[in-house]
Amino acid sequence: VVLDSDLMDLKTPSLLLDAPRLQKNLQFMGQKLAAADIDLQPHMKTAKSVPIARMATEGHSGAITVSTVKEAEEFAKAGFSKITYAVGLAPHKLGRIAALLQRFPNLTLCLLVDNPGAIAAAAEAGQIFNRTFPLFLEIDSGAQRGGLRSDDPKLLGLAQQIARTQHVSLAGVLTHAGQSYAARNRQELLQIADQERLSAFGAAGLIRGLGLSCPAVSIGSTPTLWAAESFTGATEARPGVYMFMDVFQAQLGCCQIEDIALSVLATVIGRYEKPARLLIDAGALALSQDRSTALQARHPGRLDYGLGMVCDLHGQPFPDLLVAQAHQEHGFIVSRTPETTALPAWPIGYRVRIFPIHACMTAAAYQDYIMIENGAVTGTLPRFNGW
Ligand SMILES: Cc1ncc(COP(=O)(O)O)c(C=O)c1O
Repeated sequence: VVLDSDLMDLKTPSLLLDAPRLQKNLQFMGQKLAAADIDLQPHMKTAKSVPIARMATEGHSGAITVSTVKEAEEFAKAGFSKITYAVGLAPHKLGRIAALLQRFPNLTLCLLVDNPGAIAAAAEAGQIFNRTFPLFLEIDSGAQRGGLRSDDPKLLGLAQQIARTQHVSLAGVLTHAGQSYAARNRQELLQIADQERLSAFGAAGLIRGLGLSCPAVSIGSTPTLWAAESFTGATEARPGVYMFMDVFQAQLGCCQIEDIALSVLATVIGRYEKPARLLIDAGALALSQDRSTALQARHPGRLDYGLGMVCDLHGQPFPDLLVAQAHQEHGFIVSRTPETTALPAWPIGYRVRIFPIHACMTAAAYQDYIMIENGAVTGTLPRFNGW
């Protein structure tokens, strides 16, 4: 069979990316946002791959979002000319950012700030390098990570500081409702999506009320954008994990298991009793240590998949199995109900695919994606890591 022979020839662990599933995921989000007239600015933190950024932006404005200066550099080199660096600015990075702008004069690189020091640092660097840095103000719409609440009086102070300072300009407001990951059902997701949008839109309204320009209202996490029924007030959206999806997103209800495009190919290297376990050659480095479905499993109808969902080479899950723990290069497959369900009689050398709990974390271990279609290998796509 083509399928088995192709996947039997690859080294393990390898990172597989199912091309039709990727396309379907890109299309779903792309069409939803286009229908709402929202500019899709895919967050490339998940894929970190130039060809995938090209696929994700096809038919859209071409703007993207990144989480590291390295990503900004790599995508600028590849010709992307509108990039938002959506992690709070550390002033020492401004030298590197200015060098990048020097090299690519047509690049618009928006930065993210939420404090007077970062604004002052950007203005100072702007003066030294003779540039104006467009800045997004970060809004905390409930995630309690970075940013200011939209009703925080300090927010308007920051907008005014930007307005009266040379070499910086206000690009808009930006928020990411990371609390969407803890939602228990679609209703809660919908509420969080509204909260995300209304926080950002509200903040923009207050800033505009001062007579200041606040062009962009940037929102988005995959779960909120998936659930959202209204986009009123938003202008752009930054989903990231939607491209690949993962077990966490499937349990959140944002996709089906059959939509998960990313998997790790692994080989069975041992079989043991007491406790009953199969060892695979994909451990913590190959799968990541993200155990976030353990938290989901507190809610009815959701299961803990440990460090990954075990599937056959066709991507068909074994619901009774999970990767329960891992050492650096060893993963432990166990039965969910060892008293009643024995482990499959797989021989040493047997190959499995593991669907990731959190695609962004798992992909980060690899240099490339091995593209598959109907189980056959069709090529590889490069990715990069680092900062
Ligand atoms: C600022 C920001 N925007 C957008 C995203 C994309 O969210 P998701 O991965 O849920 O698509 C993230 C993810 O962490 C983020 O930090």
